[in-house]
Amino acid sequence: MSFDLEQAYLDLVQTAVAGGLADQPEPVLSREELNRARALRRRVRAEFAAEIRALKKNQLNLSDSARTSLRGLLLDFQVEDVVRLLRINSPVSHTLLGQAALTSLRSCARQAIWLRVPGDFMECGVWRGGACILLRAVQNAMGVGPRRRTWVADSFQGLPQPDRQTNLLDAVLYAYLSETGAFAVALEEVRQNFARYGLLDEGVGFLPGWFADTLPAWQGQLALLRLDGDWYDSTYTALEHLYDKVSWGGFIIIDDYHPVLGAYHAVNDFRAQRDITDAMVQVDHQIHFWRKLPPA
Ligand SMILES: C[S@@+](CC[C@H](N)C(=O)[O-])C[C@H]1O[C@@H](n2cnc3c(N)ncnc32)[C@H](O)[C@@H]1O
Repeated sequence: MSFDLEQAYLDLVQTAVAGGLADQPEPVLSREELNRARALRRRVRAEFAAEIRALKKNQLNLSDSARTSLRGLLLDFQVEDVVRLLRINSPVSHTLLGQAALTSLRSCARQAIWLRVPGDFMECGVWRGGACILLRAVQNAMGVGPRRRTWVADSFQGLPQPDRQTNLLDAVLYAYLSETGAFAVALEEVRQNFARYGLLDEGVGFLPGWFADTLPAWQGQLALLRLDGDWYDSTYTALEHLYDKVSWGGFIIIDDYHPVLGAYHAVNDFRAQRDITDAMVQVDHQIHFWRKLPPA
């Protein structure tokens, strides 16, 4: 029986970044954690309700889609969503991506290499670096590590605080995420995570700082761009400075394409402004990607 070494290696890395090889599995939520989640949910719903009352009095200048999103949040915000936020502090995994998302990411990365789309890979918004670790593993496993780099862009101090006047959706969510550290992970910790997989090599480039400061000066070409910065401004800034550096045939993956997140509205605005009609492929309830195709 033949053994596919590349697939076995990537399976292992994928399982590991999602926490599947940890000595102890993800702990079952304690009663105390569940109570915390319920209390947090009550508060978030109360805050959204207050925002909607303000909307009715026209005190806030919001687009129709943002109004719809706020109403949706009020109705949809479930205990499970809060539990996910609490899980941010899980000691076990190196990425928030689930297995389906990781499988899709791996497949896009392999296709980009297989189809010889020129350029590097980059993720903007990396948390503990797990998705980038998998991207670098794909490059090395497919033998293109010396020619293609993986770029790791993050503030390494968590999400920026959104402006409440212009990005109410993001600002309301930030209030909750900031309770769990707003995804702040130091650069040194992310470097160490790469090193634990034997993947901290010179093909990995770090871009520490706010996207608005680091991305405009980045020179290069991308075969795959993954955006996971949650907010409107973070997503729009990354598209504004990097979209033109994505090669024809390249993959643009949006983690946060869900109406409750500003990223969704940033992507829609950018695509409309640039007349981008390439079809979006849905990966899960949130993640979508498209391939940047040349004009017909
Ligand atoms: C949801 S986490 C990323 C999750 C990660 N992709 C994973 O695999 O688990 C969002 C990240 O975006 C970063 N971020 C968001 N906006 C940013 C900005 N404007 N500049 C730099 N980093 C930003 C945060 O620091 C945080 O690490």
